[in-house]
Amino acid sequence: MKIKIQTNFIKNKTKKIKIIGEKLIPELAQTAAKKPSQFSEDFSPIFIESGKGAIVKDLENNLLIDTIMGIGPIILGYNHPQVNRAIKDQLNKGIIFSLIHRLEIKLAEKLKTCLPNMDMFRFSKTGADSTSAAIRASRNFTQKEKIISCGYHGWHDWNAIALNKNGGVPQFNKKFIKKVQYNNFEQIADSIDNQTAALIMEPVIFEPPERGYLEKIRKITKQKKVLLIFDEMWTGFRLNLGGAQKYFNIEADLACYSKAIANGMPISVLAGKRNIMKSLNKKSFFYTTFGGETLSIAAAIKTIEFIKKNNVCQKLNENGNKMIKEINNIFILNNLNFLKIVGYGSRSILNIKTEDPLLVKTFIHQEMLKNGILWNGIINLSYSHTKKHFNKIYDSFNKIAKSINLKGIKNLRSEIKGKKIKKLVI
Ligand SMILES: Cc1ncc(COP(=O)(O)O)c(C=O)c1O
Repeated sequence: MKIKIQTNFIKNKTKKIKIIGEKLIPELAQTAAKKPSQFSEDFSPIFIESGKGAIVKDLENNLLIDTIMGIGPIILGYNHPQVNRAIKDQLNKGIIFSLIHRLEIKLAEKLKTCLPNMDMFRFSKTGADSTSAAIRASRNFTQKEKIISCGYHGWHDWNAIALNKNGGVPQFNKKFIKKVQYNNFEQIADSIDNQTAALIMEPVIFEPPERGYLEKIRKITKQKKVLLIFDEMWTGFRLNLGGAQKYFNIEADLACYSKAIANGMPISVLAGKRNIMKSLNKKSFFYTTFGGETLSIAAAIKTIEFIKKNNVCQKLNENGNKMIKEINNIFILNNLNFLKIVGYGSRSILNIKTEDPLLVKTFIHQEMLKNGILWNGIINLSYSHTKKHFNKIYDSFNKIAKSINLKGIKNLRSEIKGKKIKKLVI
């Protein structure tokens, strides 16, 4: 697909559907990161119609290089022929059945080869399903109730009480969760008491773990009989085929996966040690109708096979690390020391250290769009991002950096065509 530069993303079709949608769907979106307010409203595209590889087509037929990739799931690229084939082949046989399907066992076998220290697996649909099941498993297994949490883990009560938007969540949940900051080991050590069932954490968010941080966590959780749950929603099948456990050589007791595992099909996995998983099934309740839905399972099997065969994670990290270096160099060369990309190769974020970071973000987002790139601060790489796409990304950052340098950040406001991106409150 050839990228044709267009600057009109809001035409009649978009306007019309937006008006209808706003009456029917609060804030138009099913997930916070897709809300129009998270882009430059009245300028940015609102609806995507289709995708192929790393390119998406918006409702007005603009083609854009996507750097968001469905907020993580699209690890191989949109409309991936081999994953599509696996889904279609299974579709011809049926979607969900009245008995167990053998593909469930096949996926569990595949997972076992990627995650050798995990013994048993359960499938569900969303990331929040799997983290909530992990919390239940840990409470059941330890017969304790308190949770220490580092990172975001989904919309269910036990976690949502600690969010800003916690209306409707019974307040008693508050006494069971303690949030800690990444790379603050002392805070974790101080938070553990004899009622702590588990520490659930994103093994890495963007900031790399300090030397010994994860090892110290593993040691203290073992000593204090607190289960260590890795929320690998992002790191799973992205940082490494074996996720952060393999990458950092740290064995968790339970681990949760979703996003990249099936290149966009809705499936999540709870993985764990045999005794914990058996106890969960024996004493607790974690059952859901679509847990054994076979199209997603077929897609997961194919995605995992493809990732393995093509060394996808390694390539993404190599490409991404190179990209981070290139872009940061551009910022340095243009004296923009308030801009820096941090993270790991396949997932990185632009840190903006100015008085009004959202203004700068909006300007960059807008200019990237003008250059044919859908960018919103975080770059989630896929196997479909090629040299050509990277060059285009560098080219755009080059132009934007020069422009910010020339204009000065104070003068960016008058350059913004739509609305400023709003702070994401969750
Ligand atoms: C680290 C992490 N855990 C859990 C979740 C929840 O996943 P889901 O939105 O599929 O319920 C997310 C979602 O973005 C996430 O980033």
